[in-house]
Amino acid sequence: MARRKIALIGGGNIGGTLAHLAAMKQLGDVVVFDIVEGVAKGKALDLAESAPVDGFNAVLKGTKYYKDIEGADVIIVTAGIPRKPGMSRDDLLETNIKVMKQVGDGIRQYAPDAFVICITNPLDAMVWVLQKVCGLPHAKVVGMAGVLDSARFRFFLAEAMNVSVEDVTAFVLGGHGDTMVPSTRYTTVAGIPMPDLVKMGWISQDKLDQIVQRTRDGGAEIVGLLGNGSAFYAPATSAIQMAEAYLFDEKRVLPCAAHLTGQFGVDDLYVGVPVVIGDQGVERIVEIELTDEEQGNFNKSVEAVKGLVDACKKIDSSLG
Ligand code: APR
Repeated sequence: MARRKIALIGGGNIGGTLAHLAAMKQLGDVVVFDIVEGVAKGKALDLAESAPVDGFNAVLKGTKYYKDIEGADVIIVTAGIPRKPGMSRDDLLETNIKVMKQVGDGIRQYAPDAFVICITNPLDAMVWVLQKVCGLPHAKVVGMAGVLDSARFRFFLAEAMNVSVEDVTAFVLGGHGDTMVPSTRYTTVAGIPMPDLVKMGWISQDKLDQIVQRTRDGGAEIVGLLGNGSAFYAPATSAIQMAEAYLFDEKRVLPCAAHLTGQFGVDDLYVGVPVVIGDQGVERIVEIELTDEEQGNFNKSVEAVKGLVDACKKIDSSLG
């Protein structure tokens, strides 16, 4: 069987990390696309030179031509500008709409059968724009945020309770912004829900509340520390997990920005919800039951996403 093809649109911090992970895991041959051709070619060559040491078999290519993504099985999009300190994800809107339009055209023309994972921020709006422009089925265009947000939540909880990160499962719902909804009821340690763990004295309600807030601010915390750019290791790892779920038909249940058509009371928006990912892309949307309070918080988050999508339509009338 021929090797799969993984195209990475954007060869910056996340794109480079994605290329490294995809090659090391031997997911397939890797194409790194960037408007700065030297960056794409340089990273691809640097990684190819690590192959004899690491012992992976993958062809790595850097390019600035969309033709090179032809026939890609998976495309992961990070093209655009990242946040600088003091910038919100929304400040990125105008520039990144233009970028999504170029990327969407390239995908439509050369890789209409791919599974497309968008990471570019503001995520929930950018994945909406990207799907509109590329025209691929909604099930094949998805946004990466929930896996990352819940990984952050899981890490903070594991650290606070001194248990393995592996035993903490978590769901974060809603948009990938300050209004995201980390759900404590659906978050467990080895199946024990957080409210029970509070009763058992494993963690105080105060600490749990602090961790919920720290999760919401997780991206900004890294932006503040780095001082120049935004997180890239955990975002790349999270997108690779989604790519693997598709490539190996794993039927993983993962929180992703998926297109809703009435579920959770939301229509024609991409919002973070649990989904099943297999070889058909987003195969199912898992409509979990929310309490009134959770639904209220979710609705607030949906409003924020809706505001961004409306802003996109205003900036670019062709999206309306
Ligand atoms: N087409 C292709 N590549 C582009 C384009 C374009 N029109 N515009 C910019 N790029 C490239 C840049 O040249 C850069 O190499 O996208 C890359 C972005 O990389 P970084 O600036 O290092 O950003 P990164 O940290 O990888 O984040 C990318 O993901 O999490 C989000 O907010 C983040 O939107 C940002 C994206």
